[in-house]
Amino acid sequence: MIRPFIKWAGGKTRALPSLLPHLPKADCLIEPFVGGASVFLATEYRHYVLADINPDLINLYREVTRYPDLVIDAARELFSTNNSPEGYREVRAAFNEQASSTVKFGFEMARIMRAAQFLYLNRHGYNGLCRYNRKTGFNVPFGKYKRVYFPENEIRLFAEKANDTKAIFLCAPFQRSLQAVTAGDVLVYCDPPYLPESKTANFTQYHTEPFTEDSHRQLVQALLEVNRKHGVKVVISNSDTEATRAIYQPFRMHEISVQRSVSTNKDNRQKAKEVIGVLPVCDGCGRYGGGCPDCGAVMGDATYNAMVAAGTFDDLEGDYDFAS
Ligand SMILES: C[S@@+](CC[C@H](N)C(=O)[O-])C[C@H]1O[C@@H](n2cnc3c(N)ncnc32)[C@H](O)[C@@H]1O
Repeated sequence: MIRPFIKWAGGKTRALPSLLPHLPKADCLIEPFVGGASVFLATEYRHYVLADINPDLINLYREVTRYPDLVIDAARELFSTNNSPEGYREVRAAFNEQASSTVKFGFEMARIMRAAQFLYLNRHGYNGLCRYNRKTGFNVPFGKYKRVYFPENEIRLFAEKANDTKAIFLCAPFQRSLQAVTAGDVLVYCDPPYLPESKTANFTQYHTEPFTEDSHRQLVQALLEVNRKHGVKVVISNSDTEATRAIYQPFRMHEISVQRSVSTNKDNRQKAKEVIGVLPVCDGCGRYGGGCPDCGAVMGDATYNAMVAAGTFDDLEGDYDFAS
């Protein structure tokens, strides 16, 4: 299995053994919240559309896919000379300066350099966090790691897989990336920022905008819409909370426990309860919602049998008056 080459909060690597059996076969996997890309790296779909709202993350994936050698060379230089608080602050300042300069992402070399800096900050910053302040930009403190792993091999494997599958990388909020969904043999897998496990816990913030309960409600509506329009398959994952179960009520939930990342806080070492939600659909038309107006006579066995078992037809039998 190929490991992600960046550290990412909420990465799915530990949950993969429980998650993979719930991902159905399809020609193309669309991930609107790709994050560390562990699901992309662990699956074997023919094509991928990988999206995220974070422009630095998507820039890194694009540049590594197009120019793996150039990103590796630029990043190796940063890794080899800057494992100190001063070196870290310098790279972070250059990164933040570039974001506000007029050059921005205009030139290929600027994009490559930014990708290398982002990788450096990800591996040298505290706990692999990715946090931005509206005014000052990326503001994660130095991680104080004695030795920092340089993930050259993982970068090369990522690039190879992205090129082989002609992966498309989109920087977009989920509403926009879901517009890229069209009819076909498509699976949409969504791993959005998790709903907090308690009222006092914080939302994990990956971007300047928080992902609130309302964002989750909008996501559910958008997913039902793409399933209704195009009959695509939909799977989600989230924390196992009352709010998750209420908001994602159309989904069939499967409980899993996932070992939390190693933490110095011993309270954080327990297993976290998570859910994988699969949108149940009619075998005939592939749509959620019952009634299957579109597939009529070809209603799938599973749906038909479930309706028989639930007694849907019991009161109707014998009602027809053939004489009239
Ligand atoms: C839980 S992480 C995904 C983790 C990923 N499955 C992995 O294995 O690493 C959630 C991701 O959603 C992205 N995100 C946050 N808000 C978003 C939005 N409104 N639209 C699209 N992506 C968003 C974050 O940047 C983050 O990468």
